[in-house]
Amino acid sequence: TRLRNEEVGKTLLARTRGYGKLILFGEHFVVYKVPALVGAVSMYTDCDVEFVETPGVEVIDDRPAVPNYKVKKKEEADHAIDLVLKHFNMDTEKQGLKLHFGGDLTCVSGIGASAAQVVSLSRALSLALPKAMTEDEINAAGYEGEKGYHGTPSGIDNTAATFGGVLKFQRTDGDPIFTKKKITTPIRIVYASTGMTSSTTEVVGDVKAKKEADPAWFDDLLQKYLVLVEKGEKAIDEGDMVTLGALLNENHTLCQSLTVSCKELDDLVTAAREAGAIGAKMSGTGRGGLMLALTPTEEVQDTVAAALEKLAPQVWKTTFA
Ligand code: MEV
Repeated sequence: TRLRNEEVGKTLLARTRGYGKLILFGEHFVVYKVPALVGAVSMYTDCDVEFVETPGVEVIDDRPAVPNYKVKKKEEADHAIDLVLKHFNMDTEKQGLKLHFGGDLTCVSGIGASAAQVVSLSRALSLALPKAMTEDEINAAGYEGEKGYHGTPSGIDNTAATFGGVLKFQRTDGDPIFTKKKITTPIRIVYASTGMTSSTTEVVGDVKAKKEADPAWFDDLLQKYLVLVEKGEKAIDEGDMVTLGALLNENHTLCQSLTVSCKELDDLVTAAREAGAIGAKMSGTGRGGLMLALTPTEEVQDTVAAALEKLAPQVWKTTFA
């Protein structure tokens, strides 16, 4: 029956989810093969693949997004989709495709929307072809797509999009190393958008140029970061939110030194702290995009969200548990 088919369709669609993410520690440093900590949010992108007679690829993009995001990222997104299709050896001149992206993840710089999209596409292709794939293979296919967005992706975004949860992640010369963290105390987060869409390729490229111009400057920041991330992992393991908050603040200072923060992010970070957050930092690429705040209780989470809503175009709450 039609109803039954709809149910089956929904179940299949649910299996194509790629999650958004928030970096707790280590944006930019993670590109240089040091550990970072990331939490996947519960919001996701999903993808429906339809084989059609007309050759080529038709993309229907129904993902919610902040104004301008999809326009600015269109070329990169198309390139990313092409890379994933190539990875699957799809000849779309012989077999036309209609791709329909949806889900509840709002596309905004910093949330890993590109990774969520390519991971959901990889999952949808694996189901539609069908081609049996392990989770590591899905992740690897997503990584191929991520190269469409930025030249040297660390792989942290696609790994969070594939596996979910809170992960310790490290890029290596070979396959990445990552472990899922056991969360002993809920990590209550408020995150807010500056409304500004930034280019990961550009910002990562700029950090690289600065590093090459002054290796000692970068190394000093990297050494400070290494101490931080180790303490951050310990604070998560011990459920010590006060220490975790202080360390998030320190990570924000390092991002400022790296020149990847900006006034809009700094202002939101300050406002969150003033409203009762026990720590706050920018998260992701920076120079626009997102910031996050750690709140000790649900009540403070609501207060901080209300304070940020006065200043930021979009504010969300999430809890890693
Ligand atoms: C982007 O979410 C995180 C960056 O560190 C880039 C990357 O890891 O590929 C800025």
